[in-house]
Amino acid sequence: MLKLLIASSNHGKISEIKDFLQGLEINAIGLSDLADAYAVPEETGSTFEENAIIKAEYYFTKTGLLTLADDSGLEVDALDGRPGVCSARYGGRGISSAGQINLLLEELRDVPEARRTARFICAIALIGPDVRRIFEGRCEGRISSEPRGDKGFGYDPIFLAPESGKSFAELEREEKTALSHRGMALRKCRNYLNDLSLKT
Ligand code: IMP
Repeated sequence: MLKLLIASSNHGKISEIKDFLQGLEINAIGLSDLADAYAVPEETGSTFEENAIIKAEYYFTKTGLLTLADDSGLEVDALDGRPGVCSARYGGRGISSAGQINLLLEELRDVPEARRTARFICAIALIGPDVRRIFEGRCEGRISSEPRGDKGFGYDPIFLAPESGKSFAELEREEKTALSHRGMALRKCRNYLNDLSLKT
């Protein structure tokens, strides 16, 4: 069975990725399942892809295991792509998701609906012996004028999904995954891992 390290200590993220890999001949583990604890690498890249590669390469070098790492965030057109790769850090240390949402809405206060376009992006890097692949997913949408819904996490309450116009926080998990940047990247990654597991 193919062993895969998911380079995250976020249990929500690990369980979401494991759900996606169900049915494959893959034994997926998270960072907390490793015998050694490693310092977290600095995410110094200027793109989601670069940061995903930094993380996957770091843990592959440390462990020798096939490693999957993801990096994601929100690009807002009226803010020239911010918060982008700084989505998790937007607003500074210790700020809550609600605080980040308020800050973003404040920055967009005078921006009319037609110019509130945005997208979530997710890059997944898969790095291992003889493997170096990137999978990307994007979801185009719009920033609402106020938060809506209580599901999901991060910027979900202010990201309006295409077509339905519901916020990501108003969607069930499966509905969000069918549309989301992470769902799209994970579906591509799953197909590749399926082929890889059949060859090992
Ligand atoms: P990371 O990919 O774990 O570094 O986190 C990226 C940051 O982007 C998160 O902390 C969230 O603020 C934001 N983000 C990424 N994906 C989503 C999503 O699906 N919904 C809401 N916020 C997201």
